[in-house]
Amino acid sequence: MPLIKTNSILVVDDNTNNIRVLFEILHNSGFQVSVVKSGEMALEKVPSIQPDLILLDVMMPGIDGFETCHRLKSNESTKEIPIIFMTALSEVENKVKGLHLGAVDYITKPIQVEEVLARVNVHLSLRNTKIELLDEISERRQAEIKLQQTLKDLQAAQIQLIQSEKMSGLGQMVAGVAHEINNPVNFIYGNIDYLDEYTKNLLRMLNLYQQIYSMNQPEVQALAEEIDLEFLVKDLQKLLPSMKMGAERIRNIVLSLRNFSRMDEAEFKAVDIHEGIESTLMILQYRLKDRPERPAIEVIRDYGKLPLVECYAGQLNQVLMNILANAIDALEETCSHYTYQEMKQNPHKIMIRTFLSDSQWVTIAIADNGLGIPDKVKNRIFDPFFTTKPVGKGTGLGLAISYQIITQKHGGKLDCLSTPGQGTEFIIKIPVQQRN
Ligand SMILES: Nc1ncnc2c1ncn2[C@@H]1O[C@H](COP(=O)(O)OP(=O)(O)OP(=O)(O)O)[C@@H](O)[C@H]1O
Ligand SMILES: [Mg+2]
Repeated sequence: MPLIKTNSILVVDDNTNNIRVLFEILHNSGFQVSVVKSGEMALEKVPSIQPDLILLDVMMPGIDGFETCHRLKSNESTKEIPIIFMTALSEVENKVKGLHLGAVDYITKPIQVEEVLARVNVHLSLRNTKIELLDEISERRQAEIKLQQTLKDLQAAQIQLIQSEKMSGLGQMVAGVAHEINNPVNFIYGNIDYLDEYTKNLLRMLNLYQQIYSMNQPEVQALAEEIDLEFLVKDLQKLLPSMKMGAERIRNIVLSLRNFSRMDEAEFKAVDIHEGIESTLMILQYRLKDRPERPAIEVIRDYGKLPLVECYAGQLNQVLMNILANAIDALEETCSHYTYQEMKQNPHKIMIRTFLSDSQWVTIAIADNGLGIPDKVKNRIFDPFFTTKPVGKGTGLGLAISYQIITQKHGGKLDCLSTPGQGTEFIIKIPVQQRN
């Protein structure tokens, strides 16, 4: 009994007697049998009927079995179909040649029922197993591709989640602090002018007293000396303008903080890019100042004339923050390579250039003269969780998030140019106007 009854077999033979015998054996065993009488006919039929097995006679007029086999094996659509040669018992050479050409087996003539069925069944079962395996492999490959895609999606979603968490956390805090400081600072700022006016009036009054009443009274004299009246009067007048300046500065910082924390704004808005850069620099100011181990980092601005740019302002500020913080990190890393004096001679710099590439695109280029990025690191810097910083210092998400914000949220480009030993430049390009 055949193992698989629905398999189809093509018999290729010019001998009517053989055909009849084979047909009977195979048909009675439940196979679906077709017959052709020449190599030419076989080549014509096989691609369309796609049998599961071919029994091929060697000696035929016209194209012989070898040539037929060779052509079937050279054709993509037929090369996987197993072929069994049929050859006379004595023709050892033929058997070897047939196997060399890609046949899986041979049957000797005259035909023996048991032998034919045994070999046919073996090869059909092998073929069926092979097909099943191939199907399974391709199914697995599909599943694997799907899994990889899912993994990628998941990672993207995760980055986004961390990003929005980081953003909203920082944004909320900044906004909260700004809000809390805003009222008292306005109270101070708003009253300084009155204080100034009242003080001046009081001083005029004091002056007048001094003129009209003598200062010779010992108690008055003593107090004037104790409080150093002369100095007090002079200093009081200097004190107020500098307090006013300080209050003004706090007000500006509050303004910057509020500007920076515009991350909750879910819509595109036309904003002044330079304002975003300045408020980010303001927040990073404490890191730019000089330190015992290094001189201050100089920020050089080369701002072009830019139109208002449509963007998610808070997210763009986050990108500026990441890139500027990286530049400061990179500059700080050079400290372990140079002395304070050497750094004083070759100061740390961050150069910020902005320009309109054409009327459609705005470019923000941020360069540092740090140690640069080695080539083997460079193609990984945008990978999530890639960092060269010590544990606890870097999460390796800054640039991955920035890349996502610029390319996906704004349809822009983020590139990195770096010469090891000389510095790094990040180039942000975003369209002036967003298409929906
Ligand atoms: N200006 C730069 N100069 C030299 N290397 C840089 C510069 N900017 C980025 N890199 C390299 O790219 C890596 C990835 O930067 P990314 O901002 O993504 O992560 P990170 O700064 O290490 O961590 P964090 O998530 O805290 O930002 C850095 O660890 C650093 O090696
Ligand atoms: Mg970073």
